Amino acid sequence: MDSGNTYWNDRALLEWQVELGVTDAILDAPVDRYALETAKPKPKPVEKPAGPPPVPEAVEVDAVALARADAGAAMDLPALAVAMQGFEQCELKKGARSFVFSDGQPAARVMIVGEAPGREEDRAGKPFVGRAGQLLDRMLDAVDLGRAHDDPSRAVYITNVLPWRPPSNRTPDKAEIAMMLPFLERHIALAEPDVLVLMGNTPCQALLGRTGITRMRGSWVEVGKIPTLPMFHPAYLLRNPIAKREAWADLLELNARLRG
Ligand code: URA
Repeated sequence: MDSGNTYWNDRALLEWQVELGVTDAILDAPVDRYALETAKPKPKPVEKPAGPPPVPEAVEVDAVALARADAGAAMDLPALAVAMQGFEQCELKKGARSFVFSDGQPAARVMIVGEAPGREEDRAGKPFVGRAGQLLDRMLDAVDLGRAHDDPSRAVYITNVLPWRPPSNRTPDKAEIAMMLPFLERHIALAEPDVLVLMGNTPCQALLGRTGITRMRGSWVEVGKIPTLPMFHPAYLLRNPIAKREAWADLLELNARLRG
């Protein structure tokens, strides 16, 4: 093919068309320019830099401060129970069947503080109803005290440091105790007992900041201004019946104080 010849032929044709008045070069078929518009390649999305997505800043929750605010806002015992039940910072709540608040008579002169619900208490939703609780009832009865006593001056009110059962009845850890302490302190302030009895090391840790029940039992101390008697926990007495002798002496001491 003679490409030079084609060029001069094409050019002559074009010049002839220009002479005829052609101003625009068009095709044999019409062009839909709207379709062309939409068919335009879309702009490429801006590529994000490679690497893991940014981690949102961790918000530290001060569980003790939250507990203190919730507890302080409760103006009576039913409101305190509602506030505690709605407190979501303690992981024990997730594994427990029941919320265990208290039993006995809130107006009683004696307020007993135990550790935490066990299996029976978790089932019943009441503190001290298992074997240790039954022993506690017999001990109290021996000095004419009881949670259902008809004489209000001989009634007792019972609660625990924690309202939820720890898994496998393990001892509550210090963080759990510290987190629930504002509720316990408010509980005591609202119940206004004349005397507190602390059953075992956990309530001593919570309210006195120390443990060593073997040395501490039987000697009066104060929580705020309230006379307080640490005693062996009844579960300990079930495992060590020989220690019932000291527990009996402590009960007599409690009774003498109440009658004195
Ligand atoms: N032990 C406790 O300390 N509290 C209970 O309620 C039951 C067992």
